Amino acid sequence: MKLIEMNRETKGVAIITLNRSEAANALSKALLLELNEAIAELQTDSQLRAVIVTGAGEKAFCAGADLKERAGMEEAEVKETVKLIGSTITKLANFPVPVIAAINGAAFGGGLELALACDLRLASETAKMGLTETALGIIPGAGGTQRLPRVIGVAAAKELIYTARRIDAHTANSLGLVSRVVAQGELIEEAKKLAQEIAENAPLSLRAAKAAINEGLDVSLEAGLAIEKIQYNTTIRSNDRLEGLAAFKEKRKPVFTGN
Ligand code: COA
Repeated sequence: MKLIEMNRETKGVAIITLNRSEAANALSKALLLELNEAIAELQTDSQLRAVIVTGAGEKAFCAGADLKERAGMEEAEVKETVKLIGSTITKLANFPVPVIAAINGAAFGGGLELALACDLRLASETAKMGLTETALGIIPGAGGTQRLPRVIGVAAAKELIYTARRIDAHTANSLGLVSRVVAQGELIEEAKKLAQEIAENAPLSLRAAKAAINEGLDVSLEAGLAIEKIQYNTTIRSNDRLEGLAAFKEKRKPVFTGN
């Protein structure tokens, strides 16, 4: 059985499903290796415009590190595995096109860190999330201490990390951790709709906008504006920019090719 399902039924949109529902889609080493393969495969697709990440089943998006596998590991292997989780999640954060997390159930520890590496997060009514690591004698080790404060602010992130609290979807929404809460049965359709809305736009623009926002977040405004200029310039030479102008003039929808 494949631990990562990849579905590309919608043009320009790929859906990655963590497919280990019997273990709450926890991040075993085998699953992480497959996830790396899926990310590498998508990375070379110049027509790709958006990605959705979700979990199989109705209970869990991802329960984080595989705690059963972890229990049998020596210290060196633990370090190695934590590094693998971190590097995989970083690859997702640096993925060139927008990535949407469709949080269909529990997202704890590394599961929430995975969602935090995505650009946008939608949650089902039944979703629950939290960085539970301090209750397990560790700390978030795949970006949680850095990405959570950047998404919801320092004080709220500290409260969640220090208490290891598990929050429901509506609380997550009120904190700005997820942008929308929808009924469980509608989650994947909502995520697809959002992905399609994004996918209507020029692929090179999506890549440049994401790079400008992400790279500019941690630098001064002046440096951020310089990054924006560099990214803007990557669109000037594109055929899609000319297509955008022509379509506007001809009062029709543009047909973008990613060139
Ligand atoms: N690693 C390995 N297996 C896990 C797991 C994890 N992180 N989380 C859940 N599982 C397994 C359970 O052991 C169980 O397996 P079993 O049927 O062989 O006993 C199966 O997944 C289903 O979990 P269960 O707890 O029975 O289901 P639930 O719906 O009541 O709860 C969770 C699901 C995810 C809310 C709960 O299992 C949980 O809190 N897990 C720990 C999450 C966590 O703190 N992760 C942080 C890791 S740093």
